[in-house]
Amino acid sequence: MVKKFLDKLPKHQVVMHAKSHRMAHMVYSMKAIEDVEYTHRKTEGIKDKLAHGAVRLVRSSFDFFSRYDPEKMTERDWMNRAIFLETVAGVPGMIGGMSRHLRSLRTLERDHGWIHHLLQEAENERMHLFFFLTMRNPGIFFRIAIALGQGIFFNAYFLAYLLAPRTCHRFVGYLEEEAVHTYSTMIEQLDDGKLPYWSEMKASPEAREYYGLSDDAPLREMILAIRADEATHRDTNHHFADINAWDDVEQHMVTIIENKEKISGLVYEHLEDEKKQIEAEKSQEAAE
Ligand SMILES: [Fe+2]
Ligand SMILES: [Fe+2]
Repeated sequence: MVKKFLDKLPKHQVVMHAKSHRMAHMVYSMKAIEDVEYTHRKTEGIKDKLAHGAVRLVRSSFDFFSRYDPEKMTERDWMNRAIFLETVAGVPGMIGGMSRHLRSLRTLERDHGWIHHLLQEAENERMHLFFFLTMRNPGIFFRIAIALGQGIFFNAYFLAYLLAPRTCHRFVGYLEEEAVHTYSTMIEQLDDGKLPYWSEMKASPEAREYYGLSDDAPLREMILAIRADEATHRDTNHHFADINAWDDVEQHMVTIIENKEKISGLVYEHLEDEKKQIEAEKSQEAAE
């Protein structure tokens, strides 16, 4: 099951930037992620239906209130949507990681890699947020909406996670299906020339550094990489919902770090490069 799950993820490498204080994360070759697709996992049983129903409800009410209409949306509308959704997307991973961390402390049992993965997912979503924030600074009403959204969603998800963690992972799996769909629509609009400012723009500097993109990488590459991240969250969370998270050690999520040989092309090249750079700087300082 683990092998099947890993095969689903977009082909990637994992890097760690020694000086950035960030966790290891995935980077991609643009070729490999050009056609990351929207996929839907069929619901099986009442809990899946509940999770899927909840996502449909959240999505349609958000679409209604934010007047979602891809054909008419400008760059600014897309930006608002992405910023708001990324502030929400960073919540589940943190709650999952925190809950499992506390559970491990409480039950004196190991966690086998989930905590790490979930916290990494939360950080990855927060990075998506900051990539978009370099292009727009939200005003006071937007910030209030973000704070309210967080207050409601954090508490609701936390309670639900205490009661039914697997269904919560299924919920996130379905939510990320929607995220892949949204970013795919964004890319389509961009390719159809309907977002003229964005077709001229470069990826934000932070995104270029994070994903190891070239200095003149277009904004499109940043969106492709974000969509690939969302596809990873989708498949990982569906996987978490499939396995018996709490008891069956054999089936536990294996972390990307512990099982590097299972993921093609995994490297820590940035870490190595930066180590060398730090050493070079040190010896230069010593020589002076
Ligand atoms: Fe995201
Ligand atoms: Fe996501």
